[in-house]
Amino acid sequence: MELGKENDAPIGVFDSGLGGVNVLAALLRLLPAENYIFFGDTANNPYGDKPLAQVKSLTKQGVDFLLNQGIKAIVVACNTATSAVIADLRQTITVPVFGIEPAIKPAVLTEGHGKILLLATPLTIKEKKLVRLMNSLPDKESIIPLACPGLAELIEAGDIAAAANRVEELLATVDTTGVTGVVLGCTHYPLIKQEIRQALGKEVRFYDGAEGLARNVRRVLANTGRLRAAGGSGQVRYVFTGEDQEARTRRAHALVAQLLAADRQSAQA
Ligand code: DGL
Repeated sequence: MELGKENDAPIGVFDSGLGGVNVLAALLRLLPAENYIFFGDTANNPYGDKPLAQVKSLTKQGVDFLLNQGIKAIVVACNTATSAVIADLRQTITVPVFGIEPAIKPAVLTEGHGKILLLATPLTIKEKKLVRLMNSLPDKESIIPLACPGLAELIEAGDIAAAANRVEELLATVDTTGVTGVVLGCTHYPLIKQEIRQALGKEVRFYDGAEGLARNVRRVLANTGRLRAAGGSGQVRYVFTGEDQEARTRRAHALVAQLLAADRQSAQA
């Protein structure tokens, strides 16, 4: 291969559906010159309500698809898939592998924080990766973990009104007095930030792992000489399993554009 050409290879971004667009937007913001293939396993969404073995096998299939496209790095933009299978992937894959985990560390390290509500899928909440992370943190008593069955599915379907109702039902099961921060521990949840804020009925600080993950990808690719030459923009290709590929691609594309525009606006403010 021509020297440097391998750096043009795309970065693979995997999610159980559309939620990973948050991570893709964070990557595009930091690394706009890169090429990307986004793979959303919509046909099998949601992952978070499925047994561990099934999530492992579905994630491996999606990752294999991306590897067959000649990617130079894989970003598992799904907290559920990361908690289920990232350790296995790291043992078997030769390109750099990145995962996302609930951003509880920055949340508990925030000065003067109160209670921290951690929203994630049932599988992420019960997996040992999260338990280990919680145990490694100071002040873990301030974290209120809340498994959110059914929520990602409604967001994936684009039924935001139903997702808002579900959030209200879920929040009614915990005492949210003194909550000052919310960790969005599933990549689908940033898409309903406003609805979560509304259901809580107060201003809170949100934490999600997308930006930290994107910074880590940039650091590792830079340190290993794998970055694509800066300048210009790369291409993004979307692949979804199941029906309505085109409609899903249009929605993903629109969401990414919206997220990037919101970023630009807040940078100017
Ligand atoms: N987006 C995924 C995550 O970050 C999960 C959604 C699902 O349940 O499929 O956990």
